[in-house]
Amino acid sequence: MGKDYDIKDIKLAPAGERKIAWVRDHMPLLRALEEKYADLPKREKPLAGVRLSLSIHMEAKTAYLCRVLTWAGAQVSAMGCNVLSTQDDVAAALVRGRTASQNNRDHGGRAAPGVGVFAIHGESEASYSKHVEMCLAHRPNIVIDDGGDLVGMLHSKRPDLAVDVWGGGEETTTGVIRLKALEAAGKLNFPMVAVNDARCKHLFDNRYGTGQSVWDSILRNTNLIVASKTVVIAGYGWCGRGIAMRAAALGAQVIITEIDYVKAMEARMDGYAVMTMEQAAALGDLFITATGCKDVITPAHMALMKDGAILGNAGHFNVEIDMAGLNQKAKDRYLTKDNIETYVLPRGKHINIIAEGRLLNIAAADGHPAEIMDISFAVQFYAALYVKQNHLTLENRVYDVSKEIDDIVSRARVAAWGDEIDHLTPAQEKYLKSWEL
Ligand SMILES: NC(=O)c1ccc[n+]([C@@H]2O[C@H](COP(=O)([O-])OP(=O)(O)OC[C@H]3O[C@@H](n4cnc5c(N)ncnc54)[C@H](O)[C@@H]3O)[C@@H](O)[C@H]2O)c1
Repeated sequence: MGKDYDIKDIKLAPAGERKIAWVRDHMPLLRALEEKYADLPKREKPLAGVRLSLSIHMEAKTAYLCRVLTWAGAQVSAMGCNVLSTQDDVAAALVRGRTASQNNRDHGGRAAPGVGVFAIHGESEASYSKHVEMCLAHRPNIVIDDGGDLVGMLHSKRPDLAVDVWGGGEETTTGVIRLKALEAAGKLNFPMVAVNDARCKHLFDNRYGTGQSVWDSILRNTNLIVASKTVVIAGYGWCGRGIAMRAAALGAQVIITEIDYVKAMEARMDGYAVMTMEQAAALGDLFITATGCKDVITPAHMALMKDGAILGNAGHFNVEIDMAGLNQKAKDRYLTKDNIETYVLPRGKHINIIAEGRLLNIAAADGHPAEIMDISFAVQFYAALYVKQNHLTLENRVYDVSKEIDDIVSRARVAAWGDEIDHLTPAQEKYLKSWEL
C-alpha cells in the first residue's frame, strides 16, 4: 500500500477493484504493456526508480493506467482532475492494491502494489488544492496532467516541488492551451509533451470518446428522448464534431455556434444549422458547450431560452456556462434529479443544469469508453517513456508526440481489432516522393 494517501474510505476498495477489472478486459494496449513489463526484474523495468505524479479523472481507466505505470517501475502518486469525477471506490482500490490471490479475472491474478491517491468525490476547492500539493510532495520526475493543475501548481505556489521534474505529458486541449501560453511567456520551466495533439489522441478520444460519453451522460441523467429535440452545440472542434455526429444519429435537429468561420463552414457542410448563441437560445431544448472558452452561455442567453431548457458542459473547466452569473440571477434552485439542478429565473423560467456545469460526461457518468482511453493512455505511457529517455536533451518547450509513438499505438490498436492494412511497394514509395510524373 502507498505510504500516503487521502481518500474517502478504504473499505470501498472491492467495488473499485471490480470496476478496474472490467476496464482492463477492454484495454488491450495497456494490457499488453502490463504483460510486457510487470514480471521483469526491477532493474530492467523502463520506468524503474522514476517518481511520477498524475492528475487525471480518478476513475477505473485512470486507475488501470496507474497500475501499468507502476508495473513498468514508476513510483506513482495520483489524484483526480475534477472534484466531481472522482470515484471513491476506485480511489480506494488503487490505494489498497491487490494481492495475487484475488479472483483470477482481476489482472490475470497479478499482484498490484498500492498507489498514493489524493482525491475525494465532491471535495471543496481548498481540499482539491491541498491534494495537488500532496500529489506533488514526492518531487516527481515526470508529471502527467489533464487540464494543467499539476503544472500550474509547479509554476505558481510550489515551484520548489519542481526541482526534480524532467518533463511530462498533457492530456487535454485546455491544458495544452495553458502550456503554450506559459511557453509563449517564456515561463515554462520544463518540457511538456502535448499528448492531446497526437493523432491517436484527439481523433478518437475528443471526437468519438466525447461524442459517445456526452450522450451516455445526458441519456442516463435525463431519461428523455433525443429524437425530435433541437440540440445546440457550442464549438465545432474535435469534441463538438463528435457530439454533433451522435446527436444527429439519435434524431436531433442540430444547431452549431462557433467563433471560427472555417469551422462554421464545416458545420454547415456537415448538414447542421449555424448561428449565434443569441439566435440559438430561443430554439434549443438541450445545450452543450465544448469550446474550452468561458461565458459561452450567460444568464442573458438563458433569459431567451424555453422554459425547462437543459444545459450541460463538455469542456474541461466549469466556466463555459456562467454558473456564477446564474447563481446571482436565479431566485431559487433545487435538485430535481440526481445530477440535475433546476434554477428559477426572475420571471419564473426554469433552467436545468447537468452536473453543476462541470464536464458532464465524467462528472455525471463514467467518462469515455474504456477502448478509447486505452488508446489515449497508451500514448500517455509512451510519452512518459520518451521524457525519461530524452529529458537531458529536451528544452523547456511544448513538444508534439512523435510520429513513431502514433505509429506504435495505431499499429497495436489495428492489430488488436484483427485488421490488416496495405503497405507501399518500393515503386509506390518512390512515386509518392517524386515530383516527376
Ligand atoms: N469532456 C471530455 O471528456 C473532453 C475530452 C476532450 C477534450 N475536452 C475539452 O473540451 C474542450 C474542447 O476541446 P476540443 O478538443 O474540441 O477543442 P478544439 O480546439 O478542437 O475545439 C474548440 C472549438 O470551440 C470553438 N470556440 C471557442 N470559443 C468559442 C465560443 N465562445 N463560442 C463558440 N465556439 C467557440 C473554437 O473555434 C473551436 O472550433 C476543451 O476544454 C477540452 O479540454 C473534454
